[in-house]
Amino acid sequence: MKTVLVVGGGGREHAIVDALSRSPQVGKIYCAPGNAGIASQAECVPIKDTDVDALKAFALENAVDLTVVGPEAALAAGLTDAFRAAGMPVFGHTKAATRIESSKEFAKQIMERYGVPTAAYKSFTDYDQAVEYVAARPFPAVLKYDGLAAGKGVIIAADLEEAKAALKDMLLDEAFGKGKVVIEDYLTGPEFSFMCFVDGSKVYPMPLSQDHKRAFDGDKGPNTGGMGAYTGLPFITEQDRIYALEFIMQRTAHAMVTEGCPLSGVLYGGLMKTPQGIKVIEFNARFGDPETEVVLPLLDSDIYDMFYSVATGTPAKPLEWSNDVTMGVVLASKGYPGSYQKGFEIEGCDQVKGRIFHMGTKCQDGKLMTAGGRVMMCVARAASIAQARDAVYADVAAIRCANLFYRNDIAHIAFE
Ligand code: AMP
Ligand code: GLY
Repeated sequence: MKTVLVVGGGGREHAIVDALSRSPQVGKIYCAPGNAGIASQAECVPIKDTDVDALKAFALENAVDLTVVGPEAALAAGLTDAFRAAGMPVFGHTKAATRIESSKEFAKQIMERYGVPTAAYKSFTDYDQAVEYVAARPFPAVLKYDGLAAGKGVIIAADLEEAKAALKDMLLDEAFGKGKVVIEDYLTGPEFSFMCFVDGSKVYPMPLSQDHKRAFDGDKGPNTGGMGAYTGLPFITEQDRIYALEFIMQRTAHAMVTEGCPLSGVLYGGLMKTPQGIKVIEFNARFGDPETEVVLPLLDSDIYDMFYSVATGTPAKPLEWSNDVTMGVVLASKGYPGSYQKGFEIEGCDQVKGRIFHMGTKCQDGKLMTAGGRVMMCVARAASIAQARDAVYADVAAIRCANLFYRNDIAHIAFE
């Protein structure tokens, strides 16, 4: 039986642990650092996800057969490079390949060079030149800080005044550190997420999903890490999916091989169906959160095989996905994504019929408590999106806590 170490401690890692726990080959799962929910399916070890040396030492001491990396910070810290150098199988991209997410300019250059459809762009380090360019383009304009800015590096500027203020922040005041800004054209259309397992030029697609980034119903309120997601997108045809697979995901995988930094993990395409066709908004070099929580419950085959094949560069067996659909609703602390309080008791989880993935919880004196902004996600799987909605909201209603809120309209596009 195999021993696996999962790195990370959010809802995404809980879904990865849950999928691994269904593998007949996997005997023992460790998760670093994990969380209170993960602890029921894996042994949590208190090591930070970016502490590469400690993770390597742990994996060696505990005869770990495979390490699976969730967060981009661990990849950007060089976890894969360090494990590979020691001959240890790891699922996750090298630091060089992670640039597809960590550098907006690198990603845009790859797309331009290889003809992957995306918004027209130009990048700048000089404030005056950036202002001159943006002033001559139509508004709104999209300004992206070139680097990991914890999701805060994208500004949609409605007019020149807003653009100038954002450019001042990013280039003159260096709010996220010294860097570049990518300025790109504003695209319109529904967004969706396409995640694929990628090993060099071999691409294995997962079902499409859609995240809900705004805090409140009707897509109102501030941007969050994601308040819910579902699969079975009503606005994407099979033709759209095949186009995105071929001209975006596969083309990008080939490009990364040609560029000498092959992918070896998940390539996440944040895509938009615009009136001019499907285009890339961003790439991530990892599983999406909360998309993973709705996608992996649909996997009917053994995820260990896929992780291990990608980690070792060997051909993988095709994945088998259910024809069912899923819907997931995030329960978040009141006040999130702004300031919020922690330490409220959560009851009723034992009444839930579907899955619960924990995001920010902890166990204290035998009680489950809130311990983060996004606290947990209920996910239901059913034959239709309407059935999944009924099931997931029945589960959400069973959870009792004085300080949680959630969106009531996940997958609203499917019911309009
Ligand atoms: P990103 O971090 O690149 O995904 O950007 C965050 C969000 O900003 C995206 O999910 C989109 O909603 C929006 N966005 C980014 N780029 C564009 C664009 N070129 N046109 C319209 N919206 C965009
Ligand atoms: N759901 C968006 C992300 O994982 O970046």
